Amino acid sequence: MRIGFLDSGIGGITVLHQALRLLPNEDYIFYADTLHVPYGEKPKEEVKGYIFDAADFIVSQGVKALVVACNTATSIAIEDLRRKFDIPIVGIEPAVKPAVQKWEGRRKKVLVLATQLTLNEEKFHNLVKRIGHEDIVESLPLPGLVRFAEKFEFAEEIAVPYLQEQLSSLDLTQYGTVVLGCTHFPYFENSLRQLFPPEVDIISGSFGTAKNLKRILEARRQLNEGTGDIVFYQSGTKVEDQQTLTNYKKLLAMLEELYSRPKQV
Ligand code: SIN
Repeated sequence: MRIGFLDSGIGGITVLHQALRLLPNEDYIFYADTLHVPYGEKPKEEVKGYIFDAADFIVSQGVKALVVACNTATSIAIEDLRRKFDIPIVGIEPAVKPAVQKWEGRRKKVLVLATQLTLNEEKFHNLVKRIGHEDIVESLPLPGLVRFAEKFEFAEEIAVPYLQEQLSSLDLTQYGTVVLGCTHFPYFENSLRQLFPPEVDIISGSFGTAKNLKRILEARRQLNEGTGDIVFYQSGTKVEDQQTLTNYKKLLAMLEELYSRPKQV
């Protein structure tokens, strides 16, 4: 059986990439809800409806686990998804815990970058509260990065000026770690690195999510002998167009190049 991945668009490919590295012998379904992206700027109840339609579709294909490879979707729907489906549902959360643990009691802060919807959610505030040291956690929504990614605009000439403007009111030397709390953001790691001091860590929850998926499948003795085959869907329609498939493969190659350095948490 395949493993299902769900995202509003291409962000979840950053999580799929980590899963392919850890679980190369699995086969996958990747579902991009391209008709409804971006999720992070829409009303919560509307987005919840899209997430359930997508999850119903993926589960109807007969998957053995579902990875919600979207921080916004995890924030607003993970508990309800777990109540509805009786397969393991793995979500992605901003990697705030390792970031705070590294800097508590020291002089640096943690900056969480995510969508407005993720940052508004009680789930995010509870996460920060549970970890403690709320005083060192700051956050900023960056909706423009989701829009650039969905247009396959990854060039630093486009992203850096946008980031400069969004970050202009912050003293970037006060941060020790930047947490990428949206799965679309790792595509812009190089642009972010241009703006923060070189010693600042930039981390995402993608690797931790893939590790969690592996641990669950191992515990359930559900590991496969597949080939890393991926079937892509866009809002319920199988992607057959060669150009789109090539673009998705290019994203995986781009991430492989970016993450050949062991940097993630
Ligand atoms: C979005 O669709 O706005 C991005 C979702 C996410 O990865 O948080």
